[in-house]
Amino acid sequence: MTDFKGKVAFITGGASGAGFGMAQIFSEAGCKVVIADVRQDHLDQAMEYFRSKKADVHPILLDITDRKAYIAAADEVERVYGTPPQILLQSAGVNAFGPAEASTYEDYDWIVGVNLGGIVNGMVTFVPRMIKAGHGGHIVTIASLGGLGPGPTTAPYSCSKAAVINLMETYYVALKPYGISVMAFCPGNMNTNIHEAAKTRPQRLQNSGYYESNETAEAYRKHNALGLDIREVGQHVMKGIEQGIVIYIPNDDREEIMRVATQRMIDYMTPEGMKRQAALEGAPPAEMPPEEIAAIVEANKVGWAKAKSDLDWIDKNKKA
Ligand code: NAI
Repeated sequence: MTDFKGKVAFITGGASGAGFGMAQIFSEAGCKVVIADVRQDHLDQAMEYFRSKKADVHPILLDITDRKAYIAAADEVERVYGTPPQILLQSAGVNAFGPAEASTYEDYDWIVGVNLGGIVNGMVTFVPRMIKAGHGGHIVTIASLGGLGPGPTTAPYSCSKAAVINLMETYYVALKPYGISVMAFCPGNMNTNIHEAAKTRPQRLQNSGYYESNETAEAYRKHNALGLDIREVGQHVMKGIEQGIVIYIPNDDREEIMRVATQRMIDYMTPEGMKRQAALEGAPPAEMPPEEIAAIVEANKVGWAKAKSDLDWIDKNKKA
């Protein structure tokens, strides 16, 4: 059994969704928890919860794409708790939906910037400090099942998550000699606030090719509400650390999900395989429950995952 008591856990995106779920579970296991988040309102709500529990939780307002601020946050952790974290849980992430061919530079700069750039910043900031402290540790990054396959309406997101899975596997190998474990957590749908991600999109990166409205956000919220509970997320992550897992898929059919993903890559290499893949085109992922598929169909009706109507190179069926 891993002893979490008294360990310092630094959780990005720790004030909402998966990060907040992990903060609860790791705090209840005796960790001193730092929640770092770009939204002050999320931090305030989360701290209200933790104060009511008399939990040892320290909030830091942080944009993980801001390297200077990240270093300052790491210094703050050492000032407050006298040590770098032994546990780094990277949950902060964003998404927006629309056809890949509608994506702008700004769609990529924002989403890849947070989902991959922010993780790179976390690793570069904390890994040397964790190694120097000499106490080993654990690093977990929330990737996504979206990183295991193509994302025709989530191009920046899916490529960032695929990169993060590779990055975690790379650090898993590199950090083993230091006693630091590394895991990529790859969930499907989770019941979080990610439908509000656009609220954190910086002013200078507002130009998007995707159609978004209050209705599309609400439709996406309904879909998310069918997803995995955030406390269960925290429990899964803790179990993954205890078991020393590298790629953790919290679904019962996890091996089948990975088999389908790797078979696709194998199929892409031969004409016979291409025929097999063509026969599967358009089918929703086998692991997606029917009610989630129905929620996506409803969301599409209000323009979710469609392009802005003025993009004249986009197929009309893909425009709002
Ligand atoms: P959430 O929106 O509830 O929580 C994410 C938190 O990250 C928010 O509090 C937000 O303010 C914060 N954040 C966003 N940009 C930030 C930045 N630049 N710096 C610091 N904090 C920032 O969403 P959720 O779903 O809990 O997201 C957590 C992770 O789970 C993300 O990496 C997401 O991609 C991933 N994920 C989510 C799925 C879902 O269905 N909700 C499915 C698979 C993966």
